[in-house]
Amino acid sequence: MFTIIVAENYEEVSHEASKLMRETLRSKENPVLGLAAGSTPLGLYEEMITDYILGNTSYRKVRTWNLDEYLGVPENDPHSRRSFMNEHLFEKIDIFRENTHIPRGDASDPEEECRRYEEELQKTVIDLQILGIGRDGHIGFNEPGTPFDALTHVTTLTEETRNDNARYFDGNPLLVPEKAITMGPASIMRARNIVIIATGEAKADAVYKMIKGPQKESCPASILQDHSHVTVITDPAAAARI
Ligand code: F6R
Repeated sequence: MFTIIVAENYEEVSHEASKLMRETLRSKENPVLGLAAGSTPLGLYEEMITDYILGNTSYRKVRTWNLDEYLGVPENDPHSRRSFMNEHLFEKIDIFRENTHIPRGDASDPEEECRRYEEELQKTVIDLQILGIGRDGHIGFNEPGTPFDALTHVTTLTEETRNDNARYFDGNPLLVPEKAITMGPASIMRARNIVIIATGEAKADAVYKMIKGPQKESCPASILQDHSHVTVITDPAAAARI
């Protein structure tokens, strides 16, 4: 079941998402958040930081689980999802580093790292999962064709995704790792509540297929049609086809 909010612009989209974030943080004693990298949630993360600076929110009891990490990229590499999250959120709030979880991209045995991550994840339930969506309908790094029942696994990024992420790699898609570790669609579906944010006309097709298209593994986000609490927050451009 989708609740759809079409907000006026990116700032309003971020603000709507931050309202749901605040609700979760206030209603739970020990909130568990699922977080995404990418540019879409940055406005939300800024609002979360502002809340902390203003003394409205503390993250000392919050635990976080990120969706994905590039394979072969060590934590301290500026291109890692870990560095991204540190820079855009974790270092700017009072969260304990040991409460923030991201798969280890430099694990010597990636398959084992996937099992470890999923096993830890299964010990908890994410209260609020934040998602972005790829132009091809990916969520996390679950590219089209990923089985809906997949848990945390090693995935191969499509050319489109590598092109889209080249902006983080000096504009060169060839520098974007070919593989990543990602929570699977089935791992994501365990969250109690999901907020998926999409802005810009490039996302309009993916948003349409997620909500109104047939539920097919060719559009990974369409699995969300089966979740009971998904809020889609978009700007008018991303909502153009729904
Ligand atoms: C999750 C992740 C991806 C992005 C998606 C959209 O950590 O990074 O699933 O959410 O690729 O990316 P942006 O927000 O950059 O358009």
